[in-house]
Amino acid sequence: MKSSAPGSFGAHLKALREAAGFTQEELATVAGLSVHAVSALERGQRRQPHRDTVKALSAALDLNEATRQLLVASGRAASSLKPEQMADLAHFLHQKVYNTLRTGSELQIQNILTGDPKAGEAYFNGAGKCNTCHSPTGDLKGIGRKYDPPTIQSKFLFPRSVGFGRRGAAPVTAKPVTVTVTQSTGEVVEGVLQTLDDFNVVLRDAQGNYRSFKITPDMKVVKHDPYAMHIALLDQYTDKDMHDIVAYLESLK
Ligand code: HEC
Repeated sequence: MKSSAPGSFGAHLKALREAAGFTQEELATVAGLSVHAVSALERGQRRQPHRDTVKALSAALDLNEATRQLLVASGRAASSLKPEQMADLAHFLHQKVYNTLRTGSELQIQNILTGDPKAGEAYFNGAGKCNTCHSPTGDLKGIGRKYDPPTIQSKFLFPRSVGFGRRGAAPVTAKPVTVTVTQSTGEVVEGVLQTLDDFNVVLRDAQGNYRSFKITPDMKVVKHDPYAMHIALLDQYTDKDMHDIVAYLESLK
């Protein structure tokens, strides 16, 4: 199997993924991508990943802004990390991912429980705009009774991949990403997104048929990711916000 040139996006991604201790399958699940996509990126088959893809991957790998910039930059042009930077990064990521996703350590639970439920409620109805999609008396009613704090935390940080590596969490069926294709003739086709790149879009329609379109300038392709907001929010939470939200959700008994 061919692997990408050192310094390329693919090489960075592979190194980061391995440093984080993820298999390709795990990273794909967490990032909401197909295993095929992750593999193609790593092998350099796709050299110009979409911004959204980079964001999802970096959110999954829990990268900080500087690292994300590097990853984005390397998706555009061949830039490279020095081996020592890579080692630092690997170390940092490994710890970070290990702490947040893979362990249910006492320390982590205590940290999570230091949040302030009142501040969490304010964030929920304010800056987080969580109340535009959720309600404490509706869909999230009693969530504090259903899940322990680490599970709640991973549920809102990574709603698509809940239960990954976490003991006791139930598997979930993630809501699919859908796409609406409006052709130049005005015909509108909707379905579950299969693949989307700069040239083609493939979807599965309600009848279960796979439909493939060549993307032309006179058509409109709109992607709907039910978790887009959660992915965007990952960039915005501070640790305090996160703990406050968990404390608030935990108080919804
Ligand atoms: C644009 C809509 C949207 C916004 C805004 C949003 N979410 Fe979500 N959230 C979703 C969707 C969609 C799901 C998946 C629900 C499902 O699969 O039933 C979800 C899932 C969740 C879950 C898991 C629920 C469960 O029972 O498994 C939690 C917890 C959650 N969100 C908390 C939050 C918090 C906290 C915020 C604000 C910081 C927020 N959400 C903002 C759309 C949103």
